[in-house]
Amino acid sequence: MANPWLSVSLEDYEGHMNSAEVQQLGALSDLFAEALASRCPESVAVLGIAGGNGLARIDAGVTKRVVGLDVNPLYLNIVRERYSRLLGLELYCADLAEIVVHLPPVQLVHAALVFEHAGVGRCLENALSLVAPGGALSAIVQLPSGTEEPVGPSRFPSIQNLRSHFSLIDRTRLCNTLEERRFRPTYQAHRPLPAGKGLWMGIFAQA
Ligand SMILES: C[S@@+](CC[C@H](N)C(=O)[O-])C[C@H]1O[C@@H](n2cnc3c(N)ncnc32)[C@H](O)[C@@H]1O
Repeated sequence: MANPWLSVSLEDYEGHMNSAEVQQLGALSDLFAEALASRCPESVAVLGIAGGNGLARIDAGVTKRVVGLDVNPLYLNIVRERYSRLLGLELYCADLAEIVVHLPPVQLVHAALVFEHAGVGRCLENALSLVAPGGALSAIVQLPSGTEEPVGPSRFPSIQNLRSHFSLIDRTRLCNTLEERRFRPTYQAHRPLPAGKGLWMGIFAQA
């Protein structure tokens, strides 16, 4: 079965994420900025980069290499256009749940709301393998709402295609897995969202 993200336009995705009922784009961008400020990485990889949300927060004086990966090639074309002036930008189309990524590692791997869609099997292995020695992984996961479905109602019907491919991530289990892989937590942050949802970010440094 084709990845459902291939049937969602970036316009619909960003319209949904920016809507009053969802309000996730700004929160995700702020958390990415926090991760950058916490690690000051010379290189960063963004898994599931979508339209490049948050790339404007990169300080080009600090971060010289920016790797973006996504399963949707049309999203990457738009990132290429939007951030044509961002030095050191490398974009790769890849299904992170399926293929083994072979790229030079980076100091910070940022995985925001991607494990929910791509799972924590191959995708997490790819994330960890991209972390350079002494580097870190920042992971953002969606916290459950007591009242609303994880993929909430939307004015953008194509978003509902994603429902069957979305699973909330158990952050305790994620932390335990990372600890077993010798990644220790150094920072965490939480952002409340509408409908009782929330975003949680953990930064895990390679021990
Ligand atoms: C919720 S969005 C990510 C939000 C973005 N990281 C941010 O901070 O705004 C999920 C992204 O992951 C991508 N994606 C989903 N499954 C994927 C997979 N198996 N491999 C690569 N990218 C995937 C989607 O195309 C989409 O761009």
